[in-house]
Amino acid sequence: MSAYDQLQKKLKTNPRTWLVTGVAGFIGSNLLEALLRMNQRVVGLDNFATGKKRNLAEVKALVSPAQWRRFRFREGDIADSAACRKACAGVDYVLHQAALGSVPLSMKDPLGSHRSNVTGCLNMLLAARDAKVKRFVYASSSAIYGDDPGLPKVEAKVGRPLSPYAATKAIDETYATAFALAYGLPSIGLRYFNVFGCRQDPDGAYAAVIPKWTASLLKRETVYINGDGETSRDFCFVANVVQANLLAATTRNADAVNQAYNVALGQRTTLNELFYLLQGTLRRQGAALPDQKPVYRDFRPGDVRHSLADIRKARRLLGYAPTHTIRQGLDLAMGWYRQNVV
Ligand SMILES: NC(=O)c1ccc[n+]([C@@H]2O[C@H](COP(=O)([O-])OP(=O)(O)OC[C@H]3O[C@@H](n4cnc5c(N)ncnc54)[C@H](O)[C@@H]3O)[C@@H](O)[C@H]2O)c1
Repeated sequence: MSAYDQLQKKLKTNPRTWLVTGVAGFIGSNLLEALLRMNQRVVGLDNFATGKKRNLAEVKALVSPAQWRRFRFREGDIADSAACRKACAGVDYVLHQAALGSVPLSMKDPLGSHRSNVTGCLNMLLAARDAKVKRFVYASSSAIYGDDPGLPKVEAKVGRPLSPYAATKAIDETYATAFALAYGLPSIGLRYFNVFGCRQDPDGAYAAVIPKWTASLLKRETVYINGDGETSRDFCFVANVVQANLLAATTRNADAVNQAYNVALGQRTTLNELFYLLQGTLRRQGAALPDQKPVYRDFRPGDVRHSLADIRKARRLLGYAPTHTIRQGLDLAMGWYRQNVV
């Protein structure tokens, strides 16, 4: 039995109270769904900056009425310290996901990103410290690796941040370390690589590549590839990210705490491969797509050429073992987009 199977069994018989910030967003709502399915008590905090009420409604429809009653939602902004304190009261574990996640948005509005990603995270750390939570798990990012050319990315070697967004996540990691050393707050940072799955927003200027291209394919619109398509990413299905959060929150391995981990699949897929994977998966599921090829345009400034994670540290110290390959994840995600993209 895997560490995650054991954990799920244990949690079902011994429910805990979790705070998920950013609960109306993509990853937050997937955490909510998984925790409620395990009969946990969940407090959610979100200001709907990018999150959606319909994500919460969808989770409500997917769990039983008794499971849904274990959820308390608080609409609030993490830049407001009182909202953070109220949300942390009586909580065992914090899974802090709330942030403005877009690199281009941070280039346009660095102060806005700082407010949610740094001031918000600092408020959450203070509230978690004062509420004496058992663990503070927070979303960091592969953006931390910045201009470091090494592949695969290993946790100990980060580069210089290439965007205000990357800087905010680097500052969050620094604050979490300081809170561990100064106040003894136990935390774990999770450096997500390119996460995808159900409920990831396909709309808007800042949509991620998988939802954006899937929506374009389904609407028979042009799919643009920035560059020659040989740019590669380590695409990670959201169920693997949920697993990493729950293992990080509950690990009893003292050597595992107060540090950051790569959370990814540990495999590289080029954008050209991704395009044909998406098209093939949608067709296999019955979508009648026309013969379409991607249209290539200039590289986007600031995009790194290749991204690939070394996930051995999370495997070794947390017992992380991804359950979904990119193909398995795409099968599930494409089913969702076929039902939800109009
Ligand atoms: N999706 C990815 O590939 C990826 C990769 C690396 C890191 N991350 C990080 O993971 C976390 C979750 O990302 P996501 O993809 O689910 O994005 P998302 O935009 O779907 O979710 C973020 C949520 O945080 C909420 N939020 C933002 N600012 C807030 C504030 N000031 N107060 C309260 N709520 C606020 C939003 O309304 C939204 O519901 C973020 O911290 C992001 O930086 C995501």
